[in-house]
Amino acid sequence: MSGRVEGKVAFITGAARGQGRSHAVRLAEEGADIIAVDLLEDIGTAPYPMATKEDLAETVRLVEATGRRIVARQADVRVLSQLQEAVDAGVAEFGKLDVVVAQAGILTMGTNTPQAFFDVVQVNLVGVLNTTTAAAPHLLPGASIILTGSTAALLKGSVDITGAGGLGYAHSKRHVARIGHDLASVYAAQRIRVNVIHPTNVDSGMMDNDFMYHAFRPDLDAPTREDMIPSLETKSPMGVPWLTPAEISAAVLYFASDESQWVTGQQLKLDGGQLLPVGDAGVPS
Ligand SMILES: NC(=O)c1ccc[n+]([C@@H]2O[C@H](COP(=O)([O-])OP(=O)(O)OC[C@H]3O[C@@H](n4cnc5c(N)ncnc54)[C@H](O)[C@@H]3O)[C@@H](O)[C@H]2O)c1
Repeated sequence: MSGRVEGKVAFITGAARGQGRSHAVRLAEEGADIIAVDLLEDIGTAPYPMATKEDLAETVRLVEATGRRIVARQADVRVLSQLQEAVDAGVAEFGKLDVVVAQAGILTMGTNTPQAFFDVVQVNLVGVLNTTTAAAPHLLPGASIILTGSTAALLKGSVDITGAGGLGYAHSKRHVARIGHDLASVYAAQRIRVNVIHPTNVDSGMMDNDFMYHAFRPDLDAPTREDMIPSLETKSPMGVPWLTPAEISAAVLYFASDESQWVTGQQLKLDGGQLLPVGDAGVPS
């Protein structure tokens, strides 16, 4: 099947690299035009670099190579007016908005200061509210909002022990899960769907960096990506160390398409079974 989102317009945050870029390209391959934003600057308490101008230019190139159009802007999800400007520019160009993917996010794990908590909550939680707020005036019946959570939202206490930054990450993602549920209720009568995707580890800039190599392999002086991978595998009973961005994009595509037109309020775990051993996360008792 192709053209699964033919003629739709998708607004994606954090689109310069990783999962956001992958969603942009996958949706474009299936017929969507893209409105892409990214911060393109580092954040002090995040112990790894954010995407660059060159990264966003590469997303533009890859989307255009599919034959679809893209409006790309530098914008910070913490600043509502920047998102509104970007969405408005995209809607002026493409005429409408059908899909919202709130992907931008950071991890300040390992940084044990109040600022690390505030930074991650500002991006991962306030940023998601800003993204949906900026999109709201343009959404019509049939639109789809897709929020990015994390297994950290459903894993009791998992990252709370890694300092204020890790706690802020889990805090923000728990609220994203809740916002997804409650916004689905708010929008149901307008036939606008809201779903949350909760990935386990994903092979992207957030995980594939020096800080993470050290976090997962504290026993080594100069750990590499290859050193980290066996330690990631222990988190999944299926033995998968991390998912690819493309595997997450497959779920984004489903939620973006009309195939899921009656599916809303879902909390979809893409976790290689990570949550199975820790009990009944998300399962009614
Ligand atoms: N990688 C993982 O293991 C994993 C697992 C579960 C959930 N997630 C979620 O996925 C998202 C991260 O995506 P990724 O895995 O592709 O990582 P990534 O770091 O490669 O991409 C995140 C993108 O968001 C951008 N960004 C950061 N702060 C921003 C801001 N204030 N405004 C606009 N853009 C901003 C970055 O520049 C980057 O391009 C986060 O929401 C994260 O919680 C990631």
